[in-house]
Amino acid sequence: MTTFGRIIRYSKPYWGRILVSTLAAVAVGSMDGAFAYLVEPLLKKIFATKDLTVFTLLPLVVFLLFLVRAVCRFLNDYFIRTAGELAVQEIRNDVYRNSMKLTLRFYHRQTTGGLMSRVLSDVAVMQGGIANVVTSICRDGFSALSLLTVIFYRNWRLALVTFLVIPVTVIIAQKIGKRIKRLSRESQEKMGDVAAILQETFSGIKVVKSFGLEKWEVSRFQETTRAYYRFVRKNIKYNSLSSPIAELITSLGISGVIWVGGSMVLRGETTAPEFFSFLTAMALVYKPIKSLNSSYNTIQTSAGAATRIFEIIDEQPEIVDLPDAVTIGRSQGNVAFRHVNFAYGDDPVLREISLQAKSGEIVALVGPSGSGKSTLVSLLSRFYDVTSGAICIDDVDIRKIRIECLVQQIALVDQEITLFNDTLANNIRYGNFDATDAEVEAAAMAAYAHEFIAALPEGYATNIGDRGVRLSGGQRQRICIARAILKDAPILILDEATSALDTESEQMVQKALNNLMTNRTTFVIAHRLSTILHADKILVLESGRIVEQGNHAQLLAQGGLYKRLCEMQFSKA
Ligand SMILES: Nc1ncnc2c1ncn2[C@@H]1O[C@H](COP(=O)(O)OP(=O)(O)OP(=O)(O)O)[C@@H](O)[C@H]1O
Ligand SMILES: [Mg+2]
Repeated sequence: MTTFGRIIRYSKPYWGRILVSTLAAVAVGSMDGAFAYLVEPLLKKIFATKDLTVFTLLPLVVFLLFLVRAVCRFLNDYFIRTAGELAVQEIRNDVYRNSMKLTLRFYHRQTTGGLMSRVLSDVAVMQGGIANVVTSICRDGFSALSLLTVIFYRNWRLALVTFLVIPVTVIIAQKIGKRIKRLSRESQEKMGDVAAILQETFSGIKVVKSFGLEKWEVSRFQETTRAYYRFVRKNIKYNSLSSPIAELITSLGISGVIWVGGSMVLRGETTAPEFFSFLTAMALVYKPIKSLNSSYNTIQTSAGAATRIFEIIDEQPEIVDLPDAVTIGRSQGNVAFRHVNFAYGDDPVLREISLQAKSGEIVALVGPSGSGKSTLVSLLSRFYDVTSGAICIDDVDIRKIRIECLVQQIALVDQEITLFNDTLANNIRYGNFDATDAEVEAAAMAAYAHEFIAALPEGYATNIGDRGVRLSGGQRQRICIARAILKDAPILILDEATSALDTESEQMVQKALNNLMTNRTTFVIAHRLSTILHADKILVLESGRIVEQGNHAQLLAQGGLYKRLCEMQFSKA
């Protein structure tokens, strides 16, 4: 389906508004025609009878005509613009709805700012386009139509002279339109780059400042806005060129008309009032045709933005439920990796991973940075699908479980702390929206977060702002732990969950986690080996392979990588 067809489909629910608006447009358009038509009988009457009543009535009639026209114009504008706005809102919601379905791989392919610019800027560009275009096509289209009817009715031979030039204008307009569409797409891409810098530097302002890179960022920003300008300038150029060119060509038509028409009047082939009526229609038709021409350019600009928007709506999520996916209740939490291989791109990140975690066991993953620990646990939540092999929960392949159910099995405290611009209570409630205040508080207590929350003037109702800027690293981490506690899932993943805590709060949180870990299968990733001494099983990863496994004592006895890692850490301490 064409981009334009799809936009029209989005406006279907608002056909009532569109109908009112179209009727109003027809009224406005035909009034223009009527006005031009009436010039002839009016002039005739005035010239023939020299009747003064016509003269006195004329201003009133003109005013009334324009009054009705003004009301219709308002109805036309108001209803079409609101319909456009509603349709575009739905498109924007669809973009967001679909992007929420997309997998992490999609998000890693692009910048957050670029995505935001699609949802905001591209949609706005498209929106401006649609509203303008529909208004103009309805109203100007009808006005042009009615005026053209008058033109042909008055004198078809003269009309033909006028229209000799039209094919030339159309061809030129189309050429320009095509270029504008491409330029629009490219300038929207540049706008995405601008948004990306904004997003990165606003959220990473601390880093920018600590490295004293404000000036550098400003110059990078300027460069990007300049690149944006380069495309917009071209866009403006073609937009501004199209009207003068059209006007110039039309003037050829008008000159022809005056010449041919004038000599017709002189030869008595037509009357002066008829010729004036014709000229009025000609003069009036000029504006709607010009605006139809520039609408064509606006359509092309919108189409450029719309393609980028529909690209996201059409993007297929890589991970979806199979048709025969099963619904499961709360699992036992038996997890098995069977010969799992995985790669983000071409290079393997995990190789031949096989492991068993029985219900209630604690499995620790250790290994050098970049060895694949976070990747391994992310496969369990199906953030990515394995390249080969299988992962099972209670002996069911996770690819056969409905994603909705799978998500319920796992609580994750991630390496990257994510808090939302909301109250503390709601940030914890992200783990379970049905939780009561008492349950939220209990979770916070278990995560050793209650004390500092209660000390805040607004307590749990404190709005912590985007990314929780008002909290310390350790406090934020404890909020995330409370969230996971509240979720109460049979499988728990702690990726560096205690890394931002001092030794004392770490011990407290460790106690909380110990409570939390009973009756749950837990995967712990920790650089600080002291936190995993009591794990049932420790897996040592190196370059995506499990190189050693066993409990703390067994691994020390083996005298391999684990022993070396231990020695390094405890000698440092
Ligand atoms: N989204 C991604 N796309 C491509 N490669 C990735 C992606 N995420 C991680 N990698 C690569 O996969 C490898 C394993 O990364 P992973 O995050 O699993 O390591 P890790 O063991 O958790 O490290 P750390 O202890 O530093 O957290 C790394 O070489 C990394 O460069
Ligand atoms: Mg990691």
